[in-house]
Amino acid sequence: MAKLTVVTREGQESTIEAADGLSVMEVIRDAGFDELLALCGGCCSCATCHVFVDEAWADKLPPVGEDENDLLDSSSHRNANSRLSCQISMDAGLDGLRVTIAPED
Ligand code: FES
Repeated sequence: MAKLTVVTREGQESTIEAADGLSVMEVIRDAGFDELLALCGGCCSCATCHVFVDEAWADKLPPVGEDENDLLDSSSHRNANSRLSCQISMDAGLDGLRVTIAPED
């Protein structure tokens, strides 16, 4: 099973198991990180699952979709490594992925 490292807004880092096929948002939520609100449940319509992906991983992820891009634009915290975690599906190729939960808008 792939490992996912999550850094909270306070800078606390945890590494958790990520089942294949779950989104990064689902893995984070199911592990009990309540600061990732994920209000729309993964429908790509809320942007409350915003994370910053570590630089080393940015190129290894599928490109940002059009809807994802529009939603990220609504965040005042967007940066070059911003992603919506519900739009990233975990698989073995992402073993070791590291993300930081973005500040709340
Ligand atoms: S959970 Fe709403 S956009 Fe990701």
